[in-house]
Amino acid sequence: MESKRGGFSSKLGFVAAAAGSAVGLGNIWQFPYVTGENGGAAFLLVYALWIFLIGLPIMVGEIAIGRNTQSNPFGAFKKLGGKAWALVGLFGIICGVMILSFYNVVSGWAFGYFIQIVSGDIFEESNFSSYFSNYVANYEDNLMYSIVFMVITAFIVYKGIKKGIEGTSKILMPTLFLILIAIIIYGLTLPNAIDGVKFYLLPDFSLINGATIYSALGQAFFSLSLGMGALITYGSYIGKNDNIVNSATLVTITDSMVAFLAGLMIFPLVFSQGQSPSEGPGLVFVALLGVFKTMPLIIAKIVGGGFFLLLCFAALTSTISLLEVPVSFLIDEKKWSRIKAVSVMAVIIFIIGLPSMLGFGAVDLFTEFVYYEGEYKTFMDVVQDIFFVISLPLGGLLLSIFIAWQWKVKSLSNEVSNGYSKYSGSLLEKYFNFMIVYICPLVLGMMFVLTILQKFFA
Ligand code: PFF
Repeated sequence: MESKRGGFSSKLGFVAAAAGSAVGLGNIWQFPYVTGENGGAAFLLVYALWIFLIGLPIMVGEIAIGRNTQSNPFGAFKKLGGKAWALVGLFGIICGVMILSFYNVVSGWAFGYFIQIVSGDIFEESNFSSYFSNYVANYEDNLMYSIVFMVITAFIVYKGIKKGIEGTSKILMPTLFLILIAIIIYGLTLPNAIDGVKFYLLPDFSLINGATIYSALGQAFFSLSLGMGALITYGSYIGKNDNIVNSATLVTITDSMVAFLAGLMIFPLVFSQGQSPSEGPGLVFVALLGVFKTMPLIIAKIVGGGFFLLLCFAALTSTISLLEVPVSFLIDEKKWSRIKAVSVMAVIIFIIGLPSMLGFGAVDLFTEFVYYEGEYKTFMDVVQDIFFVISLPLGGLLLSIFIAWQWKVKSLSNEVSNGYSKYSGSLLEKYFNFMIVYICPLVLGMMFVLTILQKFFA
């Protein structure tokens, strides 16, 4: 289907793009280190539970609202719920803008590392921990690489849904998968690799507590790109005959599989060199570099370069989905042309991202921005806390309340039944409705309150 707004050419096109949105830094950079810090396989189990109990129903809800209204998040909530609800959509769009502002900075780091590995320069270093600290503090390189990343993102989004977003995702997603598998196979042949596999796959339940259960839920939301309308936006570009449940399930499985495989790639590499699996955010930028350095230079360039290329590809299919959210808003609501919406938004978001970029030593104000939870937070920490840790589950909560009380599950069922005629009256329908009306509001509401208490009143 290709209306004036554009659209995906097929169900596969949508799945590739939505899975591209979901698979990102969250899977390859964050998931392994969060898992490493929270008890390996035990965390994996909790995570899987959240993904299917809460993530999947919310995803089906978002896609259905998008397709039903053929609108951006603001327009979608406005059509179905009026002006007050439209604010929820608008808030989602703002979250997308803010998430992209720091996401682009981290993507720029990955891009910079890729260039330095391929050129071989980085392997002259001996201490990768201080190298990383210096690297993120040096704004000249970061400025350049994050500009390049934003320009590539903007160009793809400018090319539109079919040629730009779908075309890119259909090439990058399979490539990403191949690189991932190749590095996993290589990693498993290294000495002590099996210790990494054991650490990753043998659960240690003593490490599971309230905090892990709830960081798993936040991670699940971020990873599936839920709670801010990215999937309302992508859902607005799919055909009436597509089976939403089927597509959402494929996206969810792909996303979880890539996160799972990313751990299987990283932990054997990390253990093969006796590095710590609970290194934190530096896991891929520090520990992995130590691993690559032990390899013969040419292998290090291939494996290390392959890894960071993979990270860039994963990030790129996510940044395009993040940029498409405000762009679709400006096109639908303000009647801007695509080129104008893309260029204006890319510049604004880049500028909003500057304090995040400069908050790693370059500018003191942004490095020690505010004090809470017993420590100074960087500007990027604060943006993450507000617009991702707190807001995404809140967005999910509002969405489930919206469906349950305003739009009604009957309308949801009607929309989902298009392209899935057996849905009405099925067990699956009952399951999704039950989760959306009772379990999601309950769990996400509790999670919201707990997050606020923990962050600001502990
Ligand atoms: N899902 C992406 C990741 O895991 O890295 C992050 C993300 C992308 C969140 C797009 C939200 C979004 F709309």
